[in-house]
Amino acid sequence: MKNDRFLRALRCEPVDCTPVWLMRQAGRYLPEYRATRAQAGSFMALCTNPELACEVTLQPLRRFALDAAILFSDILTVPDAMGLGLHFAEGEGPKFRNPVRSAADIDRLGQPDPEGELRYVMDAVRTIRRELDGRVPLIGFAGSPWTLACYMVQGEGSANFPLPKAMLWNEPQQMHRLLDIVARSVASYLAAQAAAGAQALMVFDTWGGLLAPAQFQEFSLRYLGQIVAELKADPRAREVPVILFSKGANGHLPGLAATGCNGLGVDWTMDLSSARALVGPHIALQGNLDPAALQASPEAIRREVARVLASHGKNPGHIFNLGHGITPDVKPEHVAALVEAVHELSQA
Ligand code: CP3
Repeated sequence: MKNDRFLRALRCEPVDCTPVWLMRQAGRYLPEYRATRAQAGSFMALCTNPELACEVTLQPLRRFALDAAILFSDILTVPDAMGLGLHFAEGEGPKFRNPVRSAADIDRLGQPDPEGELRYVMDAVRTIRRELDGRVPLIGFAGSPWTLACYMVQGEGSANFPLPKAMLWNEPQQMHRLLDIVARSVASYLAAQAAAGAQALMVFDTWGGLLAPAQFQEFSLRYLGQIVAELKADPRAREVPVILFSKGANGHLPGLAATGCNGLGVDWTMDLSSARALVGPHIALQGNLDPAALQASPEAIRREVARVLASHGKNPGHIFNLGHGITPDVKPEHVAALVEAVHELSQA
């Protein structure tokens, strides 16, 4: 590995400067991404073509000195492989043709075979590892059971996901059946990504913050813990560090840390110094610049980078990232300013 800063920081080992990668670093803010997506014809055509998925994974690394690559795919490939029929209507978010609304719908769900229905993802991982040739580590990922259940029950994106929320109060045992099969599917999918070459694994719990504390414990955290436990018991994944990111749930960092994961994502609503005080020194923290700061001038971005770095301090275990994904309206020059500032301002 030519650049192992990201993996060292994830193990809380000393680094020459703070590693940085960005959620949605491959995406519509890059003109070359838009060109490859147009060539593929659609977002799903891009995801299911390992050569093109590899190409868009590498695009941001050609422009910026990023310290990790993230597999180009989507969290919704797993419910798609479970038979829900994912599609993206132009200009709208994701939608499922067959949402999960009843006990019978849950009965019909099967656990997908990562080297079967999801082989295109494993092929993308293998292709990207070969093309990266050890330059930087490759991060694999999946959605959390609760976040996937939100889309599976609602059938599309939503601000507050009323249908899955109604299900967790009206039919908690059905929601648990759904979360359990999704958790087992996600754990096997992540272990297969590790076997295919992913060098770190991240679980996105984008909608964990919608839940009140008791429901977060019961419907999100419990299944995140199940996934970490399964990965740590699987010889294919045991040595591969796991990062959990529950957005809007910074207050639950101690519970998330207790799952035995190696790193935690932190959104921008809590300073890293407070997050560190909650979890102690033995777990890496990843974050947490407000993605909207990328709208500001390069000078302002540099000042905000300095503030985030200072909030964590020089102690090991910080991976710089945004508190959520880059939005399509960001200028690539502003991303360049961010990456440069992280490396320059954090030199040991
Ligand atoms: O970070 C990366 O560069 C890797 C690729 C990646 C994508 N989606 C590509 C993508 C990752 C890690 C994801 C995760 C994902 N997908 C999450 C969790 C992280 C988060 O953002 O909260 C969620 C909730 C999804 C579901 C999803 N996929 C939505 C809601 C949308 C539509 C919203 C949007 O940004 O348009 C997608 C589509 C999607 N996934 C795009 C990309 C680059 C845009 C598709 C396009 O090219 O039109």
